[in-house]
Amino acid sequence: MTFTNQVYPVVWYEDHVLLIDQTRLPEEYDLVQISRSDDMAEAIKTMIVRGAPAIGVAAAYGMYLGAREIETRDRDQFLVELEAVAKRLKATRPTAVNLFWAIDRMVRTAKQTIGPVEYLQEVLLKTAQLINTEDLQTCQAIGDHGLLALPPEPQQLRILTHCNAGALATAGYGTALGVVRSAWREGRLERVYADETRPRLQGAKLTAWECVQEGIPVTLLTDSMAAHCMQRKMVDVVVVGADRIAANGDTANKIGTYSLALVAKAHNVPFFVAAPLSTIDFNLSDGSQIPIEERDPVEVYQIGDTRICPPEVEFYNPAFDVTPAELITGIITEHGVVKPGELVNFREKQAV
Ligand code: MRU
Repeated sequence: MTFTNQVYPVVWYEDHVLLIDQTRLPEEYDLVQISRSDDMAEAIKTMIVRGAPAIGVAAAYGMYLGAREIETRDRDQFLVELEAVAKRLKATRPTAVNLFWAIDRMVRTAKQTIGPVEYLQEVLLKTAQLINTEDLQTCQAIGDHGLLALPPEPQQLRILTHCNAGALATAGYGTALGVVRSAWREGRLERVYADETRPRLQGAKLTAWECVQEGIPVTLLTDSMAAHCMQRKMVDVVVVGADRIAANGDTANKIGTYSLALVAKAHNVPFFVAAPLSTIDFNLSDGSQIPIEERDPVEVYQIGDTRICPPEVEFYNPAFDVTPAELITGIITEHGVVKPGELVNFREKQAV
């Protein structure tokens, strides 16, 4: 397969990581060089890198960078210090489970590897690179499976998406936008409707940018326009990403996803979640157990440098909400499309 204008938000280059600075797009395309684990933790926290799978890949490299900084040559002491690196990286963002999945995989790999510390460090770099390439392949598989799940009519679909579940949010290609890319490639896409996604505007800044890079027709909507557009029959299907999916299919994704799912149900518009199996948390029986990140109120009371409300007002800034499984038509994974209630059948396919 060949793709043009590929975007890779997390890249290992020589002896460091290069991140596309997602806080600067679309005004500027900057690369940030990360050589230390604590800098990677900060980049995840401040959303230089964001989106559940991309956070997982970045954290895996953060684990290697941390492992590289450990000076002891004693294997047991090395593993103790590696756990401390894991703890610091895990404290960055609570909702996207890919963060914890990738870090736990790195720790487990270190523990299971026999040999001196230098060898463990080498294996950890290879494992981070593997997580990176696996995610890219996973997204391409999600895109292709998604194609089969899309409504057969009309031939050219109008797909609405929320936040950014694109190449920028993954190792590349994207989950929800992966489905969009595959649909575009196969001549099955008329246009994308991108919700702007308040408060951080990932739809306006990132999804719209990615679409423009590839010449995919994109129309930007504010978050409150979806009901109107569906009432006017302007949307054929909704495809969104996910930050954490509980075993019963309840799905945490960017704030506003739940109301979008309710609106889609009311208008009989199919609502798909596209996500890798690494986003499924089989330890949680339902979505009420998913931790929801609350972010700095400045994201709500300010747009750019401009304050948009009186100083006396109080704020609430949950970054994610949980869409109940019954509102989800299907979950598009790298192993195929599954109804939320049948997710448990995929448990043994999850890479550990
Ligand atoms: O706060 P963000 O920008 O990290 O939130 C991202 C999302 O909610 C995405 O939709 C989700 O991580 C899926 S990305 C493939």
